Amino acid sequence: MAENLSAASIMENLRTRLIGRKVIYYPRLDSTNDTARQEAQNGAPEGTVVVADEQIAGKGRIKRVWLTPRGNIALSIIFYPPVAFLPCLIMLASLAVSRSIEAVTGLKPQIKWPNDVLINGKKVCGILSESDVRGNTVAHAVVGIGINMNLNPADFPGIAATATSLAAELGKDVSRLELIRRLLIEADRLYQDLPSGEAIYQEWHARLVTLGRRVQVKSGADMLYGIAESVDKDGSLLLRHADGSSTRIVAGDVVLRDYQ
Ligand code: BTN
Repeated sequence: MAENLSAASIMENLRTRLIGRKVIYYPRLDSTNDTARQEAQNGAPEGTVVVADEQIAGKGRIKRVWLTPRGNIALSIIFYPPVAFLPCLIMLASLAVSRSIEAVTGLKPQIKWPNDVLINGKKVCGILSESDVRGNTVAHAVVGIGINMNLNPADFPGIAATATSLAAELGKDVSRLELIRRLLIEADRLYQDLPSGEAIYQEWHARLVTLGRRVQVKSGADMLYGIAESVDKDGSLLLRHADGSSTRIVAGDVVLRDYQ
């Protein structure tokens, strides 16, 4: 049985500089990203976090649905970064998740480009970054994080083969409160480090499971195949094709072809 969450329990003595200074908790809502966007449009301070116990219209990347039954983690963080930092937010989020899972559970997460967090080759966390950019200014950016905590993948045939949860990996439940608090602390630290972005890039790069692998990448309407050769500091992926040519991909969805 998952423990109860509240804004007060998440914020208690959190001692972060920015992230989690304000937490808004809902037992149930459509999507924390949508609510966070509304909060940002209404002037919520940077670092505001929207958390829900359950999402009934959770959004994934490329218009997929994201399942958040009760007992998992769905949260979104509001940022107002300089436009140059936008690509780093994805790295920041997947690193903060990886560090916090490692600290709380001892498991060793890896990152599948651009921002899926995997454990033992299966997806445990998805990240959806949405932003409103006007000219050279970011009106707001919302980084949504969904972590499978206590979900039993076998109960959801659509994701059973590719997803896992912390409980499924460990054989016991993990405290959502502890993981959320650690995640906010790690995200806060990483956000302070963004101006010296090199360290974040290096750690994200070191955790990438994608490089050197044979991959299939869905990018817009295109399906591309090749070896994932490198990633740039702006987060883009260089794909080397069989004929020697290459494609730089800014956004896409990767399948690791040599995984099975
Ligand atoms: C993906 O891997 O496709 C991204 C999934 C992102 C899910 C999170 S859960 C919290 C936030 N609110 C949403 O509606 N989506 C993100």
